[in-house]
Amino acid sequence: MSLDKLFDSAPEGKMNAVRITQDHKISVIETTIPKISAGEVLVKPVCCGICGTDLHILRHGFVGTNYPVTPGHEFAGHVVAVGSEVRNVKEGDFVAVDPNVVCGTCRWCRSGRPNLCIHLSPIGVGRPGAAAEYVATPSQNAFKVNEAIGHGIAALIEPLACALHAVESSQGIKDRRVLVLGSGTMGLLIALTSKAFGAGSVTLSDPATAKQNIARQAGIEDARGPESLNGELFDVVFEAAGVPAALRQALQSIEKTGALVQVGVHDADAIASFNPFKLYEQEFRFIGSNSCADKFAAAVDLMADIHDKASLLIGESFPVWSFAEAVQSMEAAKSVKTQLRFS
Ligand SMILES: NC(=O)c1ccc[n+]([C@@H]2O[C@H](COP(=O)([O-])OP(=O)(O)OC[C@H]3O[C@@H](n4cnc5c(N)ncnc54)[C@H](O)[C@@H]3O)[C@@H](O)[C@H]2O)c1
Ligand SMILES: [Zn+2]
Ligand SMILES: [Zn+2]
Repeated sequence: MSLDKLFDSAPEGKMNAVRITQDHKISVIETTIPKISAGEVLVKPVCCGICGTDLHILRHGFVGTNYPVTPGHEFAGHVVAVGSEVRNVKEGDFVAVDPNVVCGTCRWCRSGRPNLCIHLSPIGVGRPGAAAEYVATPSQNAFKVNEAIGHGIAALIEPLACALHAVESSQGIKDRRVLVLGSGTMGLLIALTSKAFGAGSVTLSDPATAKQNIARQAGIEDARGPESLNGELFDVVFEAAGVPAALRQALQSIEKTGALVQVGVHDADAIASFNPFKLYEQEFRFIGSNSCADKFAAAVDLMADIHDKASLLIGESFPVWSFAEAVQSMEAAKSVKTQLRFS
């Protein structure tokens, strides 16, 4: 069958999709199945994670959101149609999708920093997401994955890619004493990645004992509450909670010459204070880590090694059309990762 023929075979007509409007309303609507261009593929999602970004889109608004929007950016599914120029995947392939659609031509894209693209338009934020029967994506954003790894695990590859970018941003994790503040999806995946990359020790801190227990089950034995850090110092500190108290503690926990990686997303207008004398005197580095950059392919490989531990993060799943209920469950923090299922 020719590629043109495959292009012709794309599903057409109407589909259901979740829709969030700017006034915080959520509904299931009937809309047109996306038409793919020559360089795009059409994916039928099988699993999609919900994260804090979805919460922001729903409750307060999130930078770059193109309302009304279909959410869903942490997903995996089957390719059901490919455009005429697509070579990397074919119909029937199981793929995880890097949601960050970039221009490829701005100075940040050309210098290997696609996460900073000035035309960034993520799937599920700036363009229609996976909480729908079908979603279109540029083919270079679709990565083939062995389906045997599990649908839920495949949908965790996107946050793992963000964790991997954070760990690489620290510029040296091997044999170092690592502290991760926050034992949610990001913190746990950063802790697992740090271990996989040869950290000397990994300590996780979270006030929620349920999260500490999940961390221990996942092999991060030293999981404790923030109050029991007792002024200990660490070579690499990840602030992966996104709350002011965690940032304050991160700044107090950094060893001379160490690295503090800012993963948690604070309010866009939040101001934090730090001691510039300490920064000078102790020569530590304060580094930002924004989304998954160019780490998606590496995360596909890494997930094959850590999927048994990562599976402990997956909690409740809800039918995609119960998106509002899924968000409520996520807010109640009953588990680490809430996901949507499609059948
Ligand atoms: N930089 C990135 O690429 C990136 C990607 C995804 C998410 N994020 C951000 O990272 C942060 C964490 O995301 P998540 O999905 O893991 O969220 P999450 O809500 O699942 O986890 C946050 C955890 O922090 C814990 N926490 C609260 N106060 C704390 C404290 N003082 N010390 C230690 N832990 C504390 C909570 O109990 C919770 O378990 C959020 O701010 C999110 O927006 C960043
Ligand atoms: Zn996310
Ligand atoms: Zn760009």
